[in-house]
Amino acid sequence: MDNRPIGFFDSGLGGLTCIPYLMRELPEEKIIYFGDTARTPYGSKATRTIRNFSMEITDFLVKSDVKMIVIACNTVSATCVDDLQERFPDIPIIGIIEPTARYVATYRGVKDKVGVIGTKVTIASHAYKNKIQKYNNRIQIAEAPCPAFVPLIEEGIIDNEIMDLTIRYYMDSFVRENNLDAVVLGCTHYPLIKKNIERLYPQLDIINPSDIVAGRIREVLDDRDGFASGSDFTNVFYASDLSENFINMIDNIFKDEEKKVKFLNFDLEREISR
Ligand code: DGL
Repeated sequence: MDNRPIGFFDSGLGGLTCIPYLMRELPEEKIIYFGDTARTPYGSKATRTIRNFSMEITDFLVKSDVKMIVIACNTVSATCVDDLQERFPDIPIIGIIEPTARYVATYRGVKDKVGVIGTKVTIASHAYKNKIQKYNNRIQIAEAPCPAFVPLIEEGIIDNEIMDLTIRYYMDSFVRENNLDAVVLGCTHYPLIKKNIERLYPQLDIINPSDIVAGRIREVLDDRDGFASGSDFTNVFYASDLSENFINMIDNIFKDEEKKVKFLNFDLEREISR
């Protein structure tokens, strides 16, 4: 048994989409979440910058005594998961791409045409394609970067025509020309527009890594006999620049449950309770 919290991080609020699935899969677990809202989006930044930001946040989470770290960000997972594991060898650190790739390779038929949408960095890395095809090289993969999705989602521009037009701008010809059967939401912000994508492309199966990673967390904790039981730790959510949208999302996830939201300054030093 291990009652320490699990650390999650993302460039912003996207990684919060993993939390309801964790709560469903492992309701006893507690969370420390860090959203780097001051520096989002990561998906169009240089690899070196993403690595530096990720090292700082991982260091912060390790110092906060978490029992494992979930990189709830595809961009970071595509860029530096190995570097983080090497720098912090004493703590399990998992990315979100590897378990999703295993899932796609296992559960999609070889005749399927699977699309992956993500940030520019994730798509340019071909991390999904390479990992899926490592497990099953007969699955056909097409990839498309959708860089305008994250800024719109961070602004809460979701249930409206602007978002629908943006989705169609990136996806209409991508879906049609590749004759896709399924699409991987290769950015943790995208589950927030899953309903729009389902409505616009009802023929597509939607594969959601924010859901799949919960199963991988279970495996890691199971291996280490690390499940929590009766922990009285309060879930903590940090943002480097606390936004209304970030707070609203957490309110929606937890509804009536007890929660605690803190503001953490950009320099990762000064902490102010909300
Ligand atoms: N939510 C992130 C991801 O999964 C990052 C998006 C961004 O900051 O560009 O890729």
